[in-house]
Amino acid sequence: MTDTLMDRTAEVSNPAWSTPLETLDPSEGTLWRRGLLLDYLKRLRQEDPVHWSPTGPSGPYWSVTKFNDIVAIDSNHRDFSSDRDITVGDQPAEFAIRNFIAADPPVHDVQRKSVTPAVAPERLGHIEQLMRERTAAVLDALPIGEPFDWVDKVSIELTTQFLATLFDFPWEDRRLLPYWSDVTTASEQTGNTTVDAAERERIMMECHDYFAALWRERAAQPPRFDFLSLLAHNEGTRDMINDPLEFLGNIMLLVVGGNDTTRNSMTGGVLFFDQNPGELAKLKADPELVAGAVSEIIRYQSPVAHMRRTALRDVEVGGKQIKKGERVVMWYVSGNRDPDVVPRPDEFLIDRERPRHHVAFGFGIHRCMGNRAAELQLRVLWEEILKRFSRIEVIGEPERALSNFILGYHHLTVKLHT
Ligand code: HEM
Repeated sequence: MTDTLMDRTAEVSNPAWSTPLETLDPSEGTLWRRGLLLDYLKRLRQEDPVHWSPTGPSGPYWSVTKFNDIVAIDSNHRDFSSDRDITVGDQPAEFAIRNFIAADPPVHDVQRKSVTPAVAPERLGHIEQLMRERTAAVLDALPIGEPFDWVDKVSIELTTQFLATLFDFPWEDRRLLPYWSDVTTASEQTGNTTVDAAERERIMMECHDYFAALWRERAAQPPRFDFLSLLAHNEGTRDMINDPLEFLGNIMLLVVGGNDTTRNSMTGGVLFFDQNPGELAKLKADPELVAGAVSEIIRYQSPVAHMRRTALRDVEVGGKQIKKGERVVMWYVSGNRDPDVVPRPDEFLIDRERPRHHVAFGFGIHRCMGNRAAELQLRVLWEEILKRFSRIEVIGEPERALSNFILGYHHLTVKLHT
């Protein structure tokens, strides 16, 4: 068979290409786990870049899949609101937390500004050495030549340690952070935990009480640079403690924001270098490439698949009329594979000319607050890996998470070679 004929045959048996366009719904929760999400989005980019799906998890919605359309919407917060809902499915009405990622100005701006100093470049410069020592300790404790789960032993442990540092969270309790993060994002679609709605609410209130006690301690002490102290001492946010759903919402934004995202990039990077030994050889030959490699890992993984907005008025995007009140989903993972903007987008290439030119961190006023922090964690990790191991061999298939929002992995078995 010729290559083209093989491609066509593969396409016919793939639902991404065989499903009628009108019923193609890229938000279907199993697509990432089944390895089909990128094909669904590729078809939309090619055939219908601003696409209407009549049946989404919470009702009809638009899918925007081209890089420049995504940037246009994300930069236009006056017409596209983040108020309340930022995922394709709506929040459960009975326990709706509030936070600044799901808010418009002025609330968004005041709250974001209050916590930004914790991840500002100067602050990150101060904690880099500590992060490096902790990363080295985690890597030095790993078994050589024996299979183990990279997700648990490295990705979860390192992102948890980093978050505990940003919160100045009690060290011995730090694994509560990923536990609460998983409970926050749990739903029938994520498969992260099996809690029902009542149990979730109970655990979230436990989390609230734990953080509220810490907040009180910090409020009584002189100001510092951890998230809680910053919230407690800022004029615009110090009363937030009196509104449990807003306090909890913002705390959980900071926990979840820095958790699954960096964790899955740490796992994805191992997978991509295993699949592309030539790129690993390039990095070993020239360790200066590490910063570009980190951006490429983040682009290629795009751990936040999408963000959603709600149109505040009728707007035209890519030749389609979006009406006031309609849901608009920006598929970052698709924009990052748009061949009109990213050359050879389906390849993992660590020496790209413009490695940071991707939308994995979003754009506009909500652009990821922790983007430099995430890059730093990944850079330190890869610098320390290169000092120790010649190869991280992936054994078997990764176990992918069940989600249309966070693209990640539950387990990745690997074996280290020195
Ligand atoms: C590779 C890692 C990460 C990725 C891919 C990522 C991605 C994103 C994306 C796509 C957004 C929304 C952007 C938009 O709507 O335009 C966002 C927002 C946010 N991220 Fe990240 N993130 C990462 C790591 C982190 C870390 C480490 C932290 C904190 C320690 C963090 C905290 C936040 C916060 C607080 C927001 C809300 C910003 C706002 O609404 O103004 N993120 N992130």
